[in-house]
Amino acid sequence: MIATDHPEGDPTHQRTPPPRSRPPETTLRPIDSARYDARFASRAAGIVSSVMRDLMSLSERPQIISLAGGFPNTESFEREVFEEIVAAVSRDHLAAALQYGPTEGLAELRELIVEIMAHEGARAGVDDIMVTSGGQQAIDLSIRTFVDPGDTILAEGPTYPGAVPCFTTYEARVEHVPMDGDGLRVDLVEEALDRLGAEGRPPKLLYTIPNFHNPAGVTMSLERRERLIEIAHERELLIVEDNPYGQIRFEGDPLPSLWELDGGAGWVLYLSTFSKILAPGTRVGWVAAPAAVLRKMNLGKQAADLCSSTISQRLVIEYLRRYDWRDYVTRLNDIYRSRRDAMLRALEEEMPPEATWTRPTGGLFVWATLPSYIDTTDLLALASERHEVAFVPGRGAFLDGRGGDSMRLNFSGVPEAVIREGVRRLGLAVTEMTELHRALGGEV
Ligand SMILES: Cc1ncc(COP(=O)(O)O)c(C=O)c1O
Repeated sequence: MIATDHPEGDPTHQRTPPPRSRPPETTLRPIDSARYDARFASRAAGIVSSVMRDLMSLSERPQIISLAGGFPNTESFEREVFEEIVAAVSRDHLAAALQYGPTEGLAELRELIVEIMAHEGARAGVDDIMVTSGGQQAIDLSIRTFVDPGDTILAEGPTYPGAVPCFTTYEARVEHVPMDGDGLRVDLVEEALDRLGAEGRPPKLLYTIPNFHNPAGVTMSLERRERLIEIAHERELLIVEDNPYGQIRFEGDPLPSLWELDGGAGWVLYLSTFSKILAPGTRVGWVAAPAAVLRKMNLGKQAADLCSSTISQRLVIEYLRRYDWRDYVTRLNDIYRSRRDAMLRALEEEMPPEATWTRPTGGLFVWATLPSYIDTTDLLALASERHEVAFVPGRGAFLDGRGGDSMRLNFSGVPEAVIREGVRRLGLAVTEMTELHRALGGEV
């Protein structure tokens, strides 16, 4: 019998913890950072932060309307469902869930991932899959596995701002390939391959987001997908296909993944995540790749974190076993469709006539381009300080300094009324910048 204070001696009774005082913010004396500067690895010195991450602290200010994050709507996940899966894990799998797991992930989860991929028409086997700590780690491991310092890689321009720290950590030279309404300009991939080949630096890989691109909001057409795979096969181009948004579709029919079109030839690595179809707090993603590549990635993952959270993987398994994840995604997509429409309507009302923006049929983002006299990095300073609205400035999605006239606006994370108010505030900031430009003698 365990001794307790409880009158009935109930061993499960929890004592109220003593009140905690807030810990100090730091106990260190002010330290001159020069002490470390000379010691930092060149790799650390050259890492470029993800603007999205930098903006997280802004979004914590309650009065700020943040259109900056890539936040899925976690509020629609039902508490009862969560309670049920937590209870199931603690009842049936507690010791295993608290234990380390295999680096490649729990076999049961990898089987379920195969089913999820099949739902998108991407056929894979259990041994083709490695579970990762979010889709983010799948990007990190892909770049870590293939890129030496100074190696060239291709990526869309704009590219996913969160991939920027991965590219810069491994000291990749990124060549952006432009996009249009049909996604990546595959004809320009060929041109880039010719040019870079002639310069003696053929790219190690192409990183691409074919579905509902973050941040551009566009989708690669079927014709371009087929041509890209032909190019990959003809010219031995390795493709990293990042597909977090394939299921976040509001209209139209799904297109085949590059993984599927590759037909098992091994020129495509496929990355995805539970962040958008379930919740980013799970931090569970995956990569599908040929065995030889997975072996190397497994070593990289051993170095990074040994294994992804077993508790999280178990919660995801319990959820997938008990519920049809597609129902939840349908509900999310209904919410996002209305939010997208609210954002597009608000942009029509609030933006100057020269501004343009994408009209995404899925995903979480609109990419807007303003008149070139507005620099969206400056606009963000004004918009967040004076008008209390934030967005991701376009430069964060390029590594070559471009993107200054563009911005990424998120519509999934806030309700429609807040979107309308956020875009109204953005409109005020744009008008102020335009007036300033005019007052300085600039043409409008
Ligand atoms: C294109 C893209 N890849 C990867 C990720 C990272 O996914 P996760 O949150 O699962 O790490 C995101 C997240 O927004 C993304 O937009």
